[in-house]
Amino acid sequence: MRLITLEHAEDFIRANTALSAPPHVPEIALHLADEAHHLWQRTEEELEEIGLPPPFWAFAWAGGQGLARYLLDNPGIVAGKSVLDFATGSGLVAIAALKAGAARMLAADIDPFCRAAVALNAQANGVSVPFTSDDLTGTDGGWDVLLAGDVFYDRTMTESLCPWFASLAASGTTVLVGDPGRSYLPRDRLSELARYEVPVTRALEDAEVKRTTVWRFD
Ligand SMILES: C[S@@+](CC[C@H](N)C(=O)[O-])C[C@H]1O[C@@H](n2cnc3c(N)ncnc32)[C@H](O)[C@@H]1O
Repeated sequence: MRLITLEHAEDFIRANTALSAPPHVPEIALHLADEAHHLWQRTEEELEEIGLPPPFWAFAWAGGQGLARYLLDNPGIVAGKSVLDFATGSGLVAIAALKAGAARMLAADIDPFCRAAVALNAQANGVSVPFTSDDLTGTDGGWDVLLAGDVFYDRTMTESLCPWFASLAASGTTVLVGDPGRSYLPRDRLSELARYEVPVTRALEDAEVKRTTVWRFD
């Protein structure tokens, strides 16, 4: 089996995805997996051999779609602001924030494959998205707004994110999350801002539509 290397990431992405619009955010084009289950399984097996995680970057997750929709419909949240899109995946939320007028943007994801996906997706939408694969958990970059689409699917991750988000919120950062009711969603810390019915990939979610909420983390 041919191993997927980072050098071939862009070629791999082009070969295994199609440029298409996430259903809830038709203004934005992304390189998305069209045969979802196949790509997910294949890359999971192949990437596992070289220690890379599954291809979250090939899908527009429900939480990200909801958050991106909210920013495009409420641009004042990010317009002129310094913004971090934490756990950016495809870069969907970062691209939406830039289209909504964010002045300074950083997209972060610990999956190094995302660097190529975010660059290709940014290019497809005529924007430029600075990216880091550093784990920014626990840091404070002085962001006005932190955005996090679909991050509460893992217990350990949630345990490290909650105190970080709380600390940033306490020091004045607006922390917004988009989430379709993942297992570890910390409901007691959240205030609802908007709710959407978001079409999703059945092979991943075992559903056609996920009710997705945009929350402010207090
Ligand atoms: C379900 S995907 C969501 C992607 C995107 N926000 C969206 O909604 O489409 C979760 C992402 O979190 C990233 N991630 C997990 N732990 C992280 C960390 N400590 N720092 C940055 N990204 C992280 C994963 O690599 C993955 O891309």
